[in-house]
Amino acid sequence: MDRLVVKGGQSLRGEVQVSGAKNSALKLIFASLLAEGEHVFRNVPALKDVESACLLIQSLGCETHFQNGTLRIKVPQITNYEASYDLVRKMRASILCLGPLLSKYGFAQVSLPGGCAIGTRPIDLHIAAMKALGAQIEIKDGYVVARAKKLKGSNFLFETSTVGGTENMLMAAALADGVTTLENAAKEPEIIDLVNYLKMMGARISGEGTSVIQVTGIDRLKPAEFTVMPDRIEAGTLLIAGAITKSEIHVSCLEPGHLETVLTKLKDCGFSFHVEKNAITILQNKSAEFVWNAVDVTTQPYPLFPTDLQAQFMALMTLAEGTSVITETVFENRFMHVQELIRLGADISPKTRVAVIRGKKILNGAPVMATDLRASASLVLAGLAAQGETIINRIYHLDRGYEKFEKKLSMLGAHVVRTSGSD
Ligand code: EPZ
Repeated sequence: MDRLVVKGGQSLRGEVQVSGAKNSALKLIFASLLAEGEHVFRNVPALKDVESACLLIQSLGCETHFQNGTLRIKVPQITNYEASYDLVRKMRASILCLGPLLSKYGFAQVSLPGGCAIGTRPIDLHIAAMKALGAQIEIKDGYVVARAKKLKGSNFLFETSTVGGTENMLMAAALADGVTTLENAAKEPEIIDLVNYLKMMGARISGEGTSVIQVTGIDRLKPAEFTVMPDRIEAGTLLIAGAITKSEIHVSCLEPGHLETVLTKLKDCGFSFHVEKNAITILQNKSAEFVWNAVDVTTQPYPLFPTDLQAQFMALMTLAEGTSVITETVFENRFMHVQELIRLGADISPKTRVAVIRGKKILNGAPVMATDLRASASLVLAGLAAQGETIINRIYHLDRGYEKFEKKLSMLGAHVVRTSGSD
């Protein structure tokens, strides 16, 4: 299994481009099931999860062709409506084919995704939303089996803000009879990206980006061409790479508006930025003695601090001046990186959802284990700042969500090398 070897202590310099957003691209791939014909997506990141989504829709009969960031999907009249366990277990987002298949074909059979490294992650709200649209649903032999002659628009209040639940319902409602109102809908930028694509396909939707979204169902959607939004989590990760190495780097091809809360927190730490239309430069503090402040963070749905940057921010806090408290409210088990950061010498006391981090002067390189995507990124960041060599095992998690991560860091001057080894 591949691992990354990071030699810490290098200062970074130069420009790095952010790739297209994984968490938007995946949903767009499933949205393509709503209309026969050829869909074209640009700025699609070359990632394992994108590959998994393509394999899934191929298993339903679609053809996919991916080259230089452009993904072409040919969607036929689909006759297989089953997302198998083997495909779904590789990627939880596969549940997002439920809404499109059900609303277009009246039937879907999707394997239950099961738990994952960051929590139990139930899909009860996806199911409740489909039921609200009139679907009959049973859980049989580990599958969600959903049927509906024709979905019917209705009002639905999400008990908890859910990105995937909102997306599944939006896609289902696009072809339902009548009007659907989603209340307490998720407001993440990836939702807006999906809605923008659905609108290009002909869907009638308003209110995206607010907590109330209204969808007026129509009979038919058509394929379109679309450019995927920049990956705000990759952008945030790269900015934290600049911060933790006290470097000046120019992160381009991003949307600064998506990173407001993150920039505010980094400014509270003492970092400064030059913000342009589609780029952010993290500026170097010229004082050799500069140490950033410890800052508390609580993860919350957008526009507040993203759970997907919690682990990376914690890596930064391990070297801050003072004590910070990080509270994770979105997932119940998203502190798997803590024990690994402690292996590097960090001083962290974790409780179920709260971690207290006492900043240290140095971290020391050590072998560590990646446990999920963002935990992996946090270990790479910590490795960049640690003294000596950090070996990050099980790096396949990173490949699910960061395109050419070590190449991008190497181009900035980091010493990061991928090797293969037994695990
Ligand atoms: C999306 O997951 C992202 N994944 C996650 O990215 C991200 O962390 C998360 O949103 C929150 O921003 C993709 O977009 C593919 P949720 P999703 O439904 O949609 C609970 C990454 O590292 N919940 O908003 O699955 C759930 O357990 C990842 O790229 C229910 O209780 O997240 C969680 O506690 C990982 N019942 C909370 O809601 C449900 O039916 C928010 O989850 C659905 C969710």
